[in-house]
This record gives sequence, structure tokens and C-alpha cells, in this order.
Amino acid sequence: MTADVKYPKRFLDLTIDSPVEDSKLAYDEMAQVWEKISDNTGYKGHILCVEAFDRTMENKEVYPNPGKDIRILDAGAGTGGIGEMLKARGYTNVDALDISQEMLNIAAARNIYKKLICAPLKDTHMEEIETAEYDTVLCAGTIVYGQVKPGAIEQCARFVKPGGLFIFSIRVDSFDPVGLGFSEKCQELEKNGKWSLVLKEKRELHAAPNEERLRYCYLITYKILK
Ligand SMILES: C[S@@+](CC[C@H](N)C(=O)[O-])C[C@H]1O[C@@H](n2cnc3c(N)ncnc32)[C@H](O)[C@@H]1O
Repeated sequence: MTADVKYPKRFLDLTIDSPVEDSKLAYDEMAQVWEKISDNTGYKGHILCVEAFDRTMENKEVYPNPGKDIRILDAGAGTGGIGEMLKARGYTNVDALDISQEMLNIAAARNIYKKLICAPLKDTHMEEIETAEYDTVLCAGTIVYGQVKPGAIEQCARFVKPGGLFIFSIRVDSFDPVGLGFSEKCQELEKNGKWSLVLKEKRELHAAPNEERLRYCYLITYKILK
């Protein structure tokens, strides 16, 4: 029966101290049933991030020159939820990055990304991506404890050109607790003038989560300044 497929124990057991390899194993294991898990848990990360993207593209004050050929990175792309929605909107220049080759294989079969990069989002310099390579980075359901370290946020900011956007969801149980480092990293980048906040909203990430800690996220958009 696939009807009650939920997040597996390996995923639910990820902690702030988990090695990145554990996250890769969890998603490799989930890849074939990810869409089912997403449906069953009412997962909305991709929908939220594309909604924030649409809103920003319509706001000329924040993003004066939107074009369908802007370079976009879908970081933690999974099976391509964001890529599919961007393709439907006519965006033609979207790359995918993900730690799990199994997830990316499913995305590849959908023919929605220009380039697929199998690599972990890290908190140290990532050779795979140039500084200011992208106009916008979207990242749904990936920046969360157990999957990435807070410094990965700074890498995502590095990938974006000045004037571009970093749009992501982050579970409240990663952002709110003082000391985990995620909200601190966001504040640090704001204080240093790296970016300015465009939007931060508390939203429902999973409508029917296995566990209450998975229910809410913040949907955040930053504009990169330098
Ligand atoms: C919750 S899924 C979301 C997938 C997709 N963004 C969506 O919204 O449908 C999280 C994705 O992040 C990927 N991931 C987890 N840890 C990662 C890391 N350290 N670096 C890159 N990708 C990672 C997983 O393999 C998985 O595909």
C-alpha cells in the first residue's frame, strides 16, 4: 500500500549533529516514493517558494528586469517540483543541485533542468558553483537542521548576483531556536550588507505532518546587495 507512505525513520531521526551523508541516505531511500510522501503529508515547500518568486517578479521595485531567461538555481531540487512549476511559467534557464543522485535521476527524466549538479550544499566554498553565477536561487525544504549547516545559507547568497534573489523555506524548528545558527546567519548577512529582507512569512509547510515539528516554516526572500 502506498497510500500511507510517510517520512521514514531515517529522515525523522536527522538531528543538528547528523553528518551530511545521513541526509543523502535518507533521500536516496525516499526517492521512488517522494511524490507520494509529499502528497500524503501535504508538503508545500516548492509551491511556497514559487509563490514568493512570482510575487517578487511582479514587483518592479524589488526586481526591475524580470525575463524568462534569467539564470535560476533550484538548490535541493529533489525530483523537480520547483523546476516543473518554473517550466510551466516559461523559464528556460534553470539548473538543479541536490545531494541525492536518486532524487536527481527522477528530476532528469522530467527534462526540466538545463544542468543537474549532484553535490551537497555545504558551509564551505563549493567549487561546483561560481560566485554570482545565478540571478536567483530558490531552495525549498532543504535548509533545515540535519540536512545543511547554517553556513550553507551564506554559500547560497554567494551564488547570486547583486540585485538577485535568494528565496527559501526553513522549518520554524530550525529558524526560531537561538543557538542553532540559522537565524543568526541570516541576521549576520543582513548586518554585513550582503542582503536585505524582502519577505518573511510564517506558513504551513506540511498540511498533514507525521510530527508537529514539521508543520510550519518561514518563507523568506532576500535581495542580494553585494
Ligand atoms: C524536502 S526535499 C525538497 C525537494 C524539492 N525542493 C521540493 O520542494 O519538492 C529536500 C531535498 O533536499 C536535498 N538535500 C538534503 N540535504 C542536502 C544537502 N546537504 N545538499 C543538497 N541537497 C540536499 C534532498 O536530497 C531532497 O531532494
